[in-house]
Amino acid sequence: MERQLWLLWAALAVPLLYCLTNLRRRLGTGRRPLPGPTPLPLIGNLIDLRRGNLHHTLARLARTHGPVMYLRLGLTDAVVVSSRDAASEAFMRHDRRLAGRAIPDIARALGFSERAINWLPSSDPHWKTLRGVLATHIFSSRALAAARGVRERKVRDLEVYVGRAVYGAMLNLMSSIVFSVDVVADMDMDAAAGSTQGIRELLNDLVSSAAKPNVSDLFPFLRPFDLQGWRRWTAKKLEKFYRFLDDMIDRRLTEDSDSSSRDKHGDFLDVLIQLMSAGKLARGDITSLLFEVFASGTDALVVTVEWTMAELLRNPRVMAKVRAEIQGTLGSKEAIEESDVACLRYLMAVMKEAMRLHPVAPLMLPHMAMEDGVEIQGHAVPKGHTVIFNTWAIMRDPAAWERPNEFIPERFMDRPEMVFKGKEPEFSPFGSGLRLCPAQPMAERVVPLGLASLLHAFEWRLPNGLLPDEFDLSERFNHTNVPAVPLKAVPFAIT
Ligand code: HEM
Repeated sequence: MERQLWLLWAALAVPLLYCLTNLRRRLGTGRRPLPGPTPLPLIGNLIDLRRGNLHHTLARLARTHGPVMYLRLGLTDAVVVSSRDAASEAFMRHDRRLAGRAIPDIARALGFSERAINWLPSSDPHWKTLRGVLATHIFSSRALAAARGVRERKVRDLEVYVGRAVYGAMLNLMSSIVFSVDVVADMDMDAAAGSTQGIRELLNDLVSSAAKPNVSDLFPFLRPFDLQGWRRWTAKKLEKFYRFLDDMIDRRLTEDSDSSSRDKHGDFLDVLIQLMSAGKLARGDITSLLFEVFASGTDALVVTVEWTMAELLRNPRVMAKVRAEIQGTLGSKEAIEESDVACLRYLMAVMKEAMRLHPVAPLMLPHMAMEDGVEIQGHAVPKGHTVIFNTWAIMRDPAAWERPNEFIPERFMDRPEMVFKGKEPEFSPFGSGLRLCPAQPMAERVVPLGLASLLHAFEWRLPNGLLPDEFDLSERFNHTNVPAVPLKAVPFAIT
């Protein structure tokens, strides 16, 4: 009986809610109504999004409906921003109001979203504390300078592993900065997580689960039931990862209590434990912060290196030019340092152009309007609407770039103002404003260092005699934007 009542309630509530919210969208604000494809009852515009990569589909719809476009996704409302000018207005005038997050249900597993920088609203004091911890203790100039040796050593490993090892090297880089351990080797030998599954698969599963369509996100009233089981599934995977991290934390706490001298590793975990002892962080914060560093960081660094290498292999002219710059500047130097890379201007332009064309997070993370009063290009965006910045489309906006779909690194040589801070929305691969990626200062050093190491040590060719023109550079959106065909390239050692 209870079930029947529930179904009856749902049957009545859904169309009612649909009419009310549609009415609010159309009439509520007195401003220009938001344009967009006509939503169907119940499912809204899901049918418009069913094919292809989401960022491509959204860009195509925006060409018809405009750069500020409304979509109804199940029972939720979203606004998609797709042009440089609209993004500029959104960030310049409404950054704080738009710095909320639309939280996917899987992020609620084990209460993660209540502790995560990614998901806490920017008005939450805990978000400020956690970002402050990262900003001061990992990504400040001082902390970055202190960890420079670690990054240079780890990136050098690329020269030994090559190929799939970009991932191993970047994962070890993150884990060395965080807790002075190479997790890739550790996980293979040692079942630290109490599991036979590798850390990479676990991270991949967790990160890609965010891209899975979930009825709990489309029909929030169904959230308590977790009908597809994605939240439970995520909780299990997250538990495994947390066990691995907790084990690392416990080992460190035991070491600390056995030894008279604290702070002997000088890594991020030392800092976090100190903050916990001072009552500034809870034990659970440490685990989830470490998880965020791995989950947000590793893939993004790897995929950026991968895309840049892919564009270089596709464009032999640029490859020759960037290698000439590297060889000319570094010669036969064996161990490349960050300071060497800082003066490789063309390499930096190559990296920027690859990030412009293939942002790792083409839709950033979903923002949310936290207050009424947001107006973009004359369209009101009401409180509670998800705001999706299609940074992929924004960075290819023909109003901002000539030949926007072509790989032309030279365009960045004459635009020194185009740095990674997202001040110019036409180049914002790390986001913009309050929610700008906190790791941007580190990524800006690590990625070119990794690229320089790969390009200095080896000459790269496509496998099986493939010609550059035949090389498939299509994208696949799987939470992050990865090459549809994983990059395979053959390194030749330079003699
Ligand atoms: C090339 C590498 C990277 C790129 C391109 C990148 C890009 C981004 C983007 C686009 C966002 C979302 C901004 C928004 O929604 O407005 C973001 C957020 C974030 N990134 Fe990165 N990221 C990179 C590396 C890293 C690394 C190494 C870490 C490690 C700690 C990291 C941690 C985070 C966190 C915690 C957030 C959430 C910030 C917030 O919501 O307040 N990222 N990143």
